[in-house]
Amino acid sequence: MSHFNHAANTWDSEDKIKLMGELAQKTLQVLNISKEVDILDFGCGTGLFGLEFINIAKSITGVDTSHGMLEVFNKKTSDQDHIRSINIDLEKVDLDEKFDLIISSMTFHHLDSPDKMTLKLASMLRDGGKMAIVDLETEDGSFHPDPKAMGVKHFGFSNEEIVGWADAAGLNVEITTINTRTKNLKKYNQFLAVFYK
Ligand SMILES: C[S@@+](CC[C@H](N)C(=O)[O-])C[C@H]1O[C@@H](n2cnc3c(N)ncnc32)[C@H](O)[C@@H]1O
Repeated sequence: MSHFNHAANTWDSEDKIKLMGELAQKTLQVLNISKEVDILDFGCGTGLFGLEFINIAKSITGVDTSHGMLEVFNKKTSDQDHIRSINIDLEKVDLDEKFDLIISSMTFHHLDSPDKMTLKLASMLRDGGKMAIVDLETEDGSFHPDPKAMGVKHFGFSNEEIVGWADAAGLNVEITTINTRTKNLKKYNQFLAVFYK
């Protein structure tokens, strides 16, 4: 996605570092995982969200379509043998691996088929595994200044949609609002959906 290649070098602003760090810490609290696990970060970007999971990581695999975002991710993790990145579009290509924990932050609204991706990710989850997705609740399309140019395919998601993905994938799901962002005086909720296999 060319938008992210252009944005990569300036992606890690002070605000984003703080916000994504807080979202990841809240997600970690809800997940309550105490042992080390194999983690897939789908749409890892520069790692602002996923690298916060390092304390519970046996391994972290970051997957992203944008080589620019992954260059930044790789620079941050070059001295960590248990962290790697893979530059693929997971909607088009399969990854034949299994994980204990799958995380994904602010990526699902870029997908053509979030329902099919949930099915695919569910098949990559080990039995007893968990998947945590953070994204926008349904919004009016004003969250991104230029949605089309930024590769936005969905203006957030409703709880009904998320429960539908879980049902189709045979997973249980718990959904909570974990954050409210204010932009141009408007408020946008972000959900955390934790799926259980
Ligand atoms: C808004 S960024 C979020 C990055 C990171 N998760 C975070 O929270 O800081 C969305 C990321 O998803 C990636 N992405 C979008 N569609 C994808 C796909 N089909 N397969 C892999 N990565 C994808 C983009 O390249 C981008 O880096």
